[in-house]
Amino acid sequence: MTVPTWTPDSWRRLPPPAQQPAWPDKAELDAALKKLATRPPLIYAGEARSLTSDLAMAAAGEAFVIQAGDCAETFAEFSPNRVRDVLKVILQMAVVLTWSSGVPTIKVGRIAGQFAKPRSQETEVLADGTTVEAYRGDMVNGFAATAQARRPDPANMLRAYEQSAETLNLLRAFAKGGFADLAAVHKWNREFVASSREGERYEAIASGIDSALRFMNACRIDARSLHEVDLYSSHEALILPYEEALTRQDSTAKDAWYDCSAHMLWVGARTRQPTSAHVEFLSGIGNPLGCKIDATATIDDVLRICERLNPERRAGRLTLISRMGKDRVRESLPPLVAAVAEAGHPVVWMCDPMHGNTVRSDGNLKTRRFEDIFAEVEGYFEVHKEAGTWPGGLHLELTGENVTECLGGSDNIADADLDTCYLTACDPRLNARQALDLAFRAGELLARW
Ligand code: TRP
Ligand code: MN
Repeated sequence: MTVPTWTPDSWRRLPPPAQQPAWPDKAELDAALKKLATRPPLIYAGEARSLTSDLAMAAAGEAFVIQAGDCAETFAEFSPNRVRDVLKVILQMAVVLTWSSGVPTIKVGRIAGQFAKPRSQETEVLADGTTVEAYRGDMVNGFAATAQARRPDPANMLRAYEQSAETLNLLRAFAKGGFADLAAVHKWNREFVASSREGERYEAIASGIDSALRFMNACRIDARSLHEVDLYSSHEALILPYEEALTRQDSTAKDAWYDCSAHMLWVGARTRQPTSAHVEFLSGIGNPLGCKIDATATIDDVLRICERLNPERRAGRLTLISRMGKDRVRESLPPLVAAVAEAGHPVVWMCDPMHGNTVRSDGNLKTRRFEDIFAEVEGYFEVHKEAGTWPGGLHLELTGENVTECLGGSDNIADADLDTCYLTACDPRLNARQALDLAFRAGELLARW
């Protein structure tokens, strides 16, 4: 079902969207949304358009994308150093991927707005027998297993907005203020290689970058672009009233609407049905969009999504984020890649190797094995090699901290180590060193593309 004319609230005329909390007090909700609607946009429409044109390069095989950050941001874990450290890893990975692929790496944080989580169970029964709302992310309710914490509180949307503004402000300062300097980032990579068990293996890439920097220096190339980066924000557009309240008419192109909560928005595997309220909402905003594609997606599903979200077939408008799991990617992805190419949809393909590879540890913690994650990346690259299409980019859950949430990597985190530093509010994230391992190993594949 679709409605004839799109408006920021046209999704409200469809059957109710999935994955929304049962807000207990309508008046309280309306008051929060009204406030949110008066807050300044977090991004400017022109920035969203720049990201679309950057992504158009990735659609054409002339750029690679890294989209990465926490599974879910939280209020409690927020600190300037954490923001800095996530950015640091993204930049370090980007240098390796840029060198290896020989094309620019577009940097998109899964940050400054990633506060809502889809859940497989709507409710949870507490130890005392009371049934409460599941934790849906800090934008909605609290993580603690108490009836009070789990009550959806619309004020959380304002708090999420404020934390997003603070985060984005800091990221913008880091991106342009000198922190992202190429030589400095490479120095961090040098320190990583020196301390890594795989150091010898990564040496070829690192010393390649050394000589490139030395050569540029000798040629007295000192462009501004060596000292700063463009950095974009993104999150899953899940809680539609929040997204609607931040959707604004572009001041320079009157008929265009942008969701000013982030540069890029994506729709998740649980809400991506072509007739869903989520897809209706996304179809009308001018931002570049992503759609998660899991192994249950049929050719028909994917083509209908492309048609719904990018009927004009504008390159850079739509990114398909494949999350198949390591065992299914080689058989589930090729027919979809072929059908999309055949239909002439200029999408960016990206690989999310995290969500299809979640397992339970011996101690019953949610975890993922580095080897499985990398196996999906490898399978994904193979599929695109075979199809003659470009493997576009990587979508990752990671943190700059030294957590122990995923198993393996060159530091070889074992099942028994998981308890040491398991902090995630949701899914297990690669730690900084595992993320760099992944970048170097994906870099090896891209260098031979
Ligand atoms: N501005 C260029 C880019 O973003 C080069 C660059 C500067 C860079 N600092 C960087 C690349 C840090 C990756 C990481 O690609
Ligand atoms: Mn997740």
